[in-house]
Amino acid sequence: MATEGRAAILEAPGEPAVIRDIVVDAPGPNEVLVKIVASGVCHTDLTVKVLNGNGMAFPIVLGHEGAGYVEQVGEGVTHLKPGDPVVIAYRVPCENCPACRRGDPRHCYMALRPGQRIHRKSDGATCSQVLRCGTFATHTVVHAKAAIKMPEEMPLDKACLIACGVVTGVGATMNTTPVAAGSRVAVIGCGGVGLSVIQGAKLRHARQIIAVDVNPTKLEWARDFGATHTVNAKEVDPVQEVRRLTEDGWDGGVEYAFEATGIPKCTEQAVKMLAYGGTATTIGFPAATDSVNLNLGDMATGVYWNKAALHVCHCGDALPSLDFPLLAQLYLQGKLDLDSMVTRKIRLEDVEDAFHQMETGDVIRSVIEF
Ligand SMILES: NC(=O)c1ccc[n+]([C@@H]2O[C@H](COP(=O)([O-])OP(=O)(O)OC[C@H]3O[C@@H](n4cnc5c(N)ncnc54)[C@H](O)[C@@H]3O)[C@@H](O)[C@H]2O)c1
Ligand SMILES: [Zn+2]
Ligand SMILES: [Zn+2]
Repeated sequence: MATEGRAAILEAPGEPAVIRDIVVDAPGPNEVLVKIVASGVCHTDLTVKVLNGNGMAFPIVLGHEGAGYVEQVGEGVTHLKPGDPVVIAYRVPCENCPACRRGDPRHCYMALRPGQRIHRKSDGATCSQVLRCGTFATHTVVHAKAAIKMPEEMPLDKACLIACGVVTGVGATMNTTPVAAGSRVAVIGCGGVGLSVIQGAKLRHARQIIAVDVNPTKLEWARDFGATHTVNAKEVDPVQEVRRLTEDGWDGGVEYAFEATGIPKCTEQAVKMLAYGGTATTIGFPAATDSVNLNLGDMATGVYWNKAALHVCHCGDALPSLDFPLLAQLYLQGKLDLDSMVTRKIRLEDVEDAFHQMETGDVIRSVIEF
C-alpha cells in the first residue's frame, strides 16, 4: 500500500529546497518503509545542493542522517518488524564486490540500495534519494539491511546523528586510521564530523588533541568534547602552530591529522602538520575539480622525507550492523556525547535556514523533528 507524506526536495539546479507532498510506494523485496522521527542536517546535504545534485537526477529528496520506526516490511524481510526503532545507514556492504568477496566489507565498493519508491505527488515524478536515504521526509524506503535496529532506550533524536556525522568522525579514528593510545592528534574543522573525530580520539586515549577551526565558538565546544588545545586558523598558521604545540625536540608534529572541512587546503595542512611517519585522513566532501598539492621533497614537511601517509575516510569505514549499535551503547553508557551535538531542533520547513546557519552560524547539528 502506498503512503503519502512530505519531503524537502531539490527540484532543479540552483533552486532552494522546497517542501512537497510525496507518494511512497510499498517496500519491495528486501526493503523497508521507515517513518522518520528525526534527521540531522549534515554538510553533505548542503554540498549536494551547491554542486547542483552532484550527478543525481532531479527531483532529489535530501537527507541521510535519519532515524525512525519501521512501518512496513517488504517480502523476505525477517530481521525487522513494524514498530522497530532504526537508524538508516547509507553505506551497507553489497556482499558482492571484490572487497566484500575477500572478506573486507568495510571497504565495500558500493552500498546496497532500494528501488526508486518515492514520487512527487503533483506529477508522479520519481525522486532520487541522497545517499540512498532521503531522510528529509516523513517516510522513506531503504534497503532492509540499511535499517539498523536501535536499543529501545535509545532516543531517536540523538540516534539519528550516528548515521553520518558521528559514525564518520568516530569511525575515522577507529577504522579508517586507528589512533594509537598516547598519540598526538590534530582535527581541522570542528563541525558535526570534526567534533566526532575529537570524541573518537578521546575514546582512543590520545595524549594530545588539537582542534583547528576558524570559528571561536566551535573551538570552545571542541574543548568540551575533549580537545586539549585549540588553534584559530584565522589568527595563526595552523601548521606552524600545531608543530609548536607538539614540539618535542624532533620538530614536533602529530601522529594523526584529520581534515573535516571539505576545503582542499586543509588536507594539505593536515599532511604538513604530521610528525615523521604520521597519517593524515581526509574526510571532507570534494567537488570534482578539487585537488591538493602535496610537496614530496621538503626536508621538514615533504611527503617523502616525512614519510607521510594519506587516508580517505568514507562514512568512518563503518560496518553499520556492528558499529551503529556500538555507538548507541557508548552513548547509553555516557561515553559518547550526542546530546551536546544537537544545538538546534527544527521543522522540515526550516531546512534552508539550517543550511544558512551551517555556513554562517554557531551550530553543530540542526535536527529536524517530524
Ligand atoms: N567522508 C565522509 O564520509 C563524510 C561524511 C560526513 C560529512 N562529510 C563531509 O565532511 C565535511 C564536514 O562536515 P560537517 O557536517 O562536520 O560540516 P560543518 O559545516 O558542520 O563543519 C565544518 C567546520 O569547518 C570549519 N572550517 C571552515 N573553514 C575552515 C578552515 N579554513 N580551517 C579550519 N576549519 C574550518 C567550520 O567553521 C566548521 O566548524 C563536509 O565536507 C561534509 O560534506 C564527509
Ligand atoms: Zn561490497
Ligand atoms: Zn553526512
